[in-house]
Amino acid sequence: MHPSADSPYDRFIDGNRTALTAEEQTGLQIFRGKGNCTACHMGPTFSDERFHNTGIAWRDGRLHDEGRAAVTSLEADRGAFKTPTLREISLTAPHHGSLGTLEDVVEYYDRGGNRNSGLDPELRLLKLTDAEKRALAAFLHALTGTVVEGPHSDRR
Ligand code: HEC
Repeated sequence: MHPSADSPYDRFIDGNRTALTAEEQTGLQIFRGKGNCTACHMGPTFSDERFHNTGIAWRDGRLHDEGRAAVTSLEADRGAFKTPTLREISLTAPHHGSLGTLEDVVEYYDRGGNRNSGLDPELRLLKLTDAEKRALAAFLHALTGTVVEGPHSDRR
C-alpha cells in the first residue's frame, strides 16, 4: 500500500463521500476532465511513469535542462521529464522546477505550459475560471495524507 493511502482523496475513493469538500470534489472532476491531468497523472500513484515535455525547462526561448535527452541523446527527449507522483505534493516544494506553489502550477497548466517545438500534445490552453483553478489546487492539497514510512505503511 502506498505510504500516503489515507489522504482525504483515498478515503473519498474508498466510499467516504464527505472525505473531500465540495470544492475538492469539483477539483477532482477538473483533474479528470477539463484539466486533462489524468492524461499523464493516472492510477494510484498519479503517474504514467513516462517522459513528457511539459515546457518546464523552456524559458526565455531556450532550453535550460536537456531532461531525458541527457541520457538518450534523442531530439524527441529534449526537455522531457518523467511524470512525478502527485502524492504528498503539498509537502514538497518548490514545484515544477521553476514554479513555486501548487497555485502557480495550476496557472502554468492553465496557459498550456511554456511553448516549444516538442511540447506534449496533451498540454493546451485550459481557460479555467478562477473558481475552477482554486478547486483544482484544493484537490491537489487533498492528495496529502499521513506519511507513514517503513514496512507498516498500510497501518491506518
Ligand atoms: C503531458 C503529460 C502531463 C499532463 C497532461 C499534466 N502533467 Fe503534471 N507533470 C508532468 C511532468 C512530466 C511533470 C514533471 C516535469 C514538470 O515539472 O513539468 C509534471 C509535474 C507536475 C507537478 C509538480 C510535481 C512536483 O514534484 O513538483 C504538478 C503539481 C502537476 N504536474 C500537476 C498537474 C495537473 C494539476 C495537471 C492538469 C492540469 C497536470 N499536471 C497535467 C506531466 C503532465
